[in-house]
Amino acid sequence: MEFGTPLMEGARRILLLGSGELGKEMAIESQRLGVEVVAVDRYDMAPAMHVAHRRYVINMMDGKAIKAIVRREVPDAVIAEIEAINTDALVELEEEGFRVVPNARAVKVCMNRVELRRLAAEKLGLPTTKYYVAESPSDVERACKDLGYPCLIKPEMSSSGHGHVIIKSRDGVEEGFRRAVEHARGASRKVIVEEFVEIDREFTALTYRHRVGNSIETRTLTPIEHQRPKGVFHYVESWHPPTANESVLKTAKEMAIKVVDELGGLGIYGVELILTRDGRLLFSEVAPRPHDTGLVTLVSTDINEFQIHVRAALGFQIPEVKLVTPAASHVIIADNEGYAPRFIGIEEALAIPGVQVRLFGKPSTYRGRRMGVVLAVGDTVNEARERARLAASKIKVITH
Ligand SMILES: Nc1ncnc2c1ncn2[C@@H]1O[C@H](COP(=O)(O)OP(=O)(O)OP(=O)(O)O)[C@@H](O)[C@H]1O
Ligand SMILES: [Mg+2]
Repeated sequence: MEFGTPLMEGARRILLLGSGELGKEMAIESQRLGVEVVAVDRYDMAPAMHVAHRRYVINMMDGKAIKAIVRREVPDAVIAEIEAINTDALVELEEEGFRVVPNARAVKVCMNRVELRRLAAEKLGLPTTKYYVAESPSDVERACKDLGYPCLIKPEMSSSGHGHVIIKSRDGVEEGFRRAVEHARGASRKVIVEEFVEIDREFTALTYRHRVGNSIETRTLTPIEHQRPKGVFHYVESWHPPTANESVLKTAKEMAIKVVDELGGLGIYGVELILTRDGRLLFSEVAPRPHDTGLVTLVSTDINEFQIHVRAALGFQIPEVKLVTPAASHVIIADNEGYAPRFIGIEEALAIPGVQVRLFGKPSTYRGRRMGVVLAVGDTVNEARERARLAASKIKVITH
């Protein structure tokens, strides 16, 4: 495969639909390979835009805008970096011959909890939490009756825990359904009602499809492990390698490969799995892209998840990915709304051995927004976790 020079005739080009922190790392990796980068998002100066050759600010649900940009830029790969994208435009672009990564159908299925559940649980027979699809409070009530309280409602379309509502008793059904639907992306009134499980720990099985000669192969990394503090719906820390026993990890890998093979295409997927306190390993959902908990691979593996995704998107073969050191990641979160945030404690954090800091460059903050991440290596996972936690505790996001 011939490689040109960025901004010149013959340049290889990737186009990122969504330009957050995951896109930023993909952009940096592309830059290193001399690949031209086009970053698209709904707001200006999103993380990947800081390191892209060109940028576009559009409403990501506007299919016409997406198609206009892709047709003008003619990228070698269109990488879906967020869920909130007009997926019909991706389907059309794929039919025109553009390479959508991993593929348009996978992006469409993964953003829809109902479709994804049906595929994983009913078509592939993977174990999941017990669930029902509901479209009204009375549907929810019927589901809860069978599942028992507490149970959990999630909108058909949403991410980062938006619209998740725990229903504690029959009295909470009406209000819970209203809140879930209100926080959904789009107009759907469909929700999933799930049994609420006690979580021991969670895994992300990074699983990729890459070209090997004339065929495509699927491989999976040793899963990343993570735990969320009670009541927190976003990832706080992750570590690699995992500490779970071999038989759990083996099953996790098999489940991940099964679902990723079904979704197809090229590139990496983050397959989310839950290990319950009563010992069940359950498929939860899958992101058709690098995963936020996988930021730890920036230090834990010889080829990180962003390199894997970019290389696979360009049609490269990827050698076996090796774990090089125990490592951990810990998020840096804003606790206020503001513009032009500042950070204190960076020097103190970086004075800790084995620690690196990534600040994403987001121009504004809101309560709970992820602004950066601490990465740490250590002789053991515990040492790496301690270092990451300590470093993150030194850093504060200041907004005025
Ligand atoms: N049935 C359940 N019982 C208990 N906890 C759950 C259940 N389902 C999900 N969770 C917890 O909530 C988290 C988020 O759930 P899920 O991944 O389905 O939502 P999401 O909106 O896609 O979030 P994200 O974008 O952060 O992955 C899970 O990682 C897990 O910690
Ligand atoms: Mg999830």
